Amino acid sequence: MFKQQEHTLLPFPTHSMARKKTVSCGAVAILVVLVTGGIVTLITLMFTRNTAPGLESTPVPSQETEHKPYLIGVGRADCTGPPAEIPLMGYANTKQTGAGIHTRLYSRAFIIDDGRKRVVFVTADVGMVSQRLRLEVLNALKAKYGNLYRQDNVVLSGTHTHSGLAGYFQYTLFMITSKGYIKESVQPLVNGIVKSIDIAHNNTKPGRIYRSRGELEGNSVNRSPHSYMNNPEEERNRYKWNTDKQVLVLKFTDLDGNGIGMLSWFAVHAVSMNYTNRMVSSDNMGYASYLMEQDKNPGELPGHGGFVAGFSSSNLGDVSPNTKGPHCVNTGLPCDYLNSSCPVGGTKMCQSSGPGEDMFESTRIIAHNIYQKAKELYVNAKEEVTGFLHSAHQWVDMTNVTIQINSTHTVSTCKPALGHSFAAGTTDGGGDLNFTQGSVEGDPFWDGIRDVIVGKPSNETQECHHPKPILFSTGEMNWPLPWHPKIIDVQIITIGSVAVVAVPGEITTMSGRRLRESVKQELQSEGAFRDVEVVIAGLSNVYTHYITTFEEYQVQRYEGASTIFGPHTLSAYLQKYRGLARAIAQAVMIWSCPPFQDNVSELPTGPQPPFFKKLFNLMTAAGVDRKPENSSFGDVVQQVYPVYRKGDVVSITFIAGNPRHSGDIRDKTFVTVEIYDNRTDTWKTVHTDASWETRFHWLKGSNRQSNSTVEWYIPPSAASGFYRIKHFGHFKQLKALRPVITPYEGTSDVFSVTGSFYSQRYYEAELRMQKKERMSYY
Ligand SMILES: *[C@@H]1O[C@H](CO)[C@@H](O)[C@H](O)[C@H]1NC(C)=O
Ligand SMILES: *[C@@H]1O[C@H](CO)[C@@H](O)[C@H](O)[C@H]1NC(C)=O
Ligand SMILES: *[C@@H]1O[C@H](CO)[C@@H](O)[C@H](O)[C@H]1NC(C)=O
Ligand SMILES: *[C@@H]1O[C@H](CO)[C@@H](O)[C@H](O)[C@H]1NC(C)=O
Ligand SMILES: *[C@@H]1O[C@H](CO)[C@@H](O)[C@H](O)[C@H]1NC(C)=O
Ligand SMILES: *[C@@H]1O[C@H](CO)[C@@H](O)[C@H](O)[C@H]1NC(C)=O
Ligand SMILES: *[C@@H]1O[C@H](CO)[C@@H](O)[C@H](O)[C@H]1NC(C)=O
Ligand SMILES: *[C@@H]1O[C@H](CO)[C@@H](O)[C@H](O)[C@H]1NC(C)=O
Ligand SMILES: *[C@@H]1O[C@H](CO)[C@@H](O)[C@H](O)[C@H]1NC(C)=O
Ligand SMILES: *[C@@H]1O[C@H](CO)[C@@H](O)[C@H](O)[C@H]1NC(C)=O
Ligand SMILES: *[C@@H]1O[C@H](CO)[C@@H](O)[C@H](O)[C@H]1NC(C)=O
Ligand SMILES: [Zn+2]
Repeated sequence: MFKQQEHTLLPFPTHSMARKKTVSCGAVAILVVLVTGGIVTLITLMFTRNTAPGLESTPVPSQETEHKPYLIGVGRADCTGPPAEIPLMGYANTKQTGAGIHTRLYSRAFIIDDGRKRVVFVTADVGMVSQRLRLEVLNALKAKYGNLYRQDNVVLSGTHTHSGLAGYFQYTLFMITSKGYIKESVQPLVNGIVKSIDIAHNNTKPGRIYRSRGELEGNSVNRSPHSYMNNPEEERNRYKWNTDKQVLVLKFTDLDGNGIGMLSWFAVHAVSMNYTNRMVSSDNMGYASYLMEQDKNPGELPGHGGFVAGFSSSNLGDVSPNTKGPHCVNTGLPCDYLNSSCPVGGTKMCQSSGPGEDMFESTRIIAHNIYQKAKELYVNAKEEVTGFLHSAHQWVDMTNVTIQINSTHTVSTCKPALGHSFAAGTTDGGGDLNFTQGSVEGDPFWDGIRDVIVGKPSNETQECHHPKPILFSTGEMNWPLPWHPKIIDVQIITIGSVAVVAVPGEITTMSGRRLRESVKQELQSEGAFRDVEVVIAGLSNVYTHYITTFEEYQVQRYEGASTIFGPHTLSAYLQKYRGLARAIAQAVMIWSCPPFQDNVSELPTGPQPPFFKKLFNLMTAAGVDRKPENSSFGDVVQQVYPVYRKGDVVSITFIAGNPRHSGDIRDKTFVTVEIYDNRTDTWKTVHTDASWETRFHWLKGSNRQSNSTVEWYIPPSAASGFYRIKHFGHFKQLKALRPVITPYEGTSDVFSVTGSFYSQRYYEAELRMQKKERMSYY
């Protein structure tokens, strides 16, 4: 870390010091003159934020504190949209539409301010951040905060859950699988993300950051080892694993050392919940956040409490949480190593699962492991993060980046296109058609269909993408709107000795390692950032599918086929991120009086991305609700039993309305599990639909009738006592030909959950229950 220098006079200005600009500027100027003899000294001084005595004006206890604190704010907000009928984003499986809630989705925001600059990092429970989502969030922030939160200092990253709602894209390919641009899906995301930033903004207070890094083994596997093995042997030999195992943790505390939040990164796909799941779910990463927050906010319901724990995605492009690996589900035999297909049934039969018996247990195990590791690192984080903040951002036309590969040759990126193996999907969720991974030759059958429907790729694009056989030449498809983005974001924020590289897609393990290394090299090129920790924040800002190495690309598995800007995509990114890193490195050198001109602000902003006005929407409005004759919405059609034991599952079914009629459902609940308090004669909510223990299923029947089934997986920690389950919703009817939306609620009979009887019979039952619990509980 940066050593403290006794003779340092360099002030670390805070907002409250702004009025003393002249003083601090003078001090800097003097310093610069004094240290002209040694650049290294200057750098050291820059990073030794030791405040000059007398200049301090914030009410900060300064006894043992070595470094000036940051201003830190954390915030969490619900961003769950209507959990019905809208497609879920990730597997692009048309059958996977929303039908209830497993766990709620949250946006988690972290604001850090060094008194001179401010950065915001948001990790949200979404499949990915889309360009449209980002632009809408930035517009909302601009309307609210003016120029405080901008494209250069706000990073928006998605956890990559595949069980969040779709519909927040403006490019045709994504809109087709999303059923268009769905306003009712976009609004809760935009409002939830902005609200998490509002909360963090309002909570900002002086605090400290500590970092810690460890490794988590056994929680992830490479799902394209064949591609990975195509990387140079010398390079592979430098690493023990074919996926990154590191967990990086930032611990945020107030000045008294009380934890206020945690931000961590780990590279794994949030696909523990597979494409048969229809409930909105934050999957493994979201559940890790949930566990850490429940731990740090004792007694609070999920989604409540001040402590915010973000588990952010990283270089997860080829990383699966399904640790049992791929098998042919029909025969139990391993799939073909090269093309992940099965002798009988092809690609579709080759599926990955694990480590649990079912997807819920797998989600729980993966989440618990990540959470446990992060918590251990959090508890032991002692290394303080100090130093200035920087943020560098550019928009880049990614279809036309020229890369000098040696003194005589340049290569270039391509217009976006997807290869045949894109349609094969992965072993985490395969495609429905007969595509296989690893195809470097087209299929005349599908090429023929493609040519008729969307047109033939140009020779130029085909050559550029070689050896990828192009399925969709999306860069040449512009109807009704462009099919893929051309302009993308590259962005780096540095928080003292931590550099966060925001990557607009899913970058593979080795690509991520190369990127981190390049950024580190550039940051250190000017002698500063000696001890920098570079971390990749995946699925950030705009979605561009995958980024593989040139070597991985040659194999054309799913990730290579989905590297849309061609074989030199990674090289182009390396060049662009190096540029940002170099500007940041030089910014440290070019120290001047306010307004602190530096090379970062001299970076060209690049071409602005489009914001399309006319987006199509293929979702029809939710229709009116009907109910069986002589019944009411909220009536119980399948009642609870009178008595349950811990470990049992309570199930109850109500006559329901379409959850889409409930409008903005953020911070509300469709479900409560309540316990009776006989001292006060009141009911107390112990779970909501956000709880892991509850599952809210919405089942649409025929004739516009629907049911809501609520399940409660009674945890071992449940108190014995009397309980009831409530369901809340809205139904739509036509009254005088006008739609009217009316709230309803339903309540179960009271049932009891029993504790121990201390009888032999009880023990036997309990043993049976525990066995069952191990297999299927949670
Ligand atoms: C933040 O503070 C402002 C001003 O006090 C207030 O209007 C706003 O509601 C607060 N926002 C949140 C999300 O707490
Ligand atoms: C997958 O590769 C194997 C050989 O490794 C081959 O026999 C099989 O036909 C391929 N399957 C498909 C669908 O291409
Ligand atoms: C998804 O998980 C369930 C168990 O929760 C399992 O029955 C099903 O086969 C899995 N499907 C796929 C495609 O992995
Ligand atoms: C590609 O970039 C070069 C310079 O980098 C520029 O001259 C050219 O016009 C660009 N082409 C397109 C199609 O944007
Ligand atoms: C530059 O790279 C090209 C393409 O790989 C190669 O053909 C050429 O020999 C290289 N030139 C030098 C000077 O290394
Ligand atoms: C895929 O299916 C089509 C139609 O059934 C067939 O004509 C084509 O040959 C198949 N392709 C492969 C690679 O199996
Ligand atoms: C594209 O390539 C094909 C085959 O190489 C050739 O027949 C055709 O003329 C080319 N088209 C153009 C427009 O150059
Ligand atoms: C950084 O800024 C300095 C001073 O303005 C300038 O001389 C230098 O060329 C800049 N470097 C880059 C890469 O823009
Ligand atoms: C509904 O209630 C009415 C009036 O009580 C009764 O006549 C009718 O049979 C009931 N219908 C059904 C399906 O129970
Ligand atoms: C409340 O319930 C507990 C446990 O069931 C019981 O021991 C206690 O007597 C009850 N208190 C009242 C006031 O009913
Ligand atoms: C609702 O549940 C009841 C009881 O299980 C069942 O008879 C009915 O068919 C269900 N209705 C719908 C629309 O699924
Ligand atoms: Zn993915």
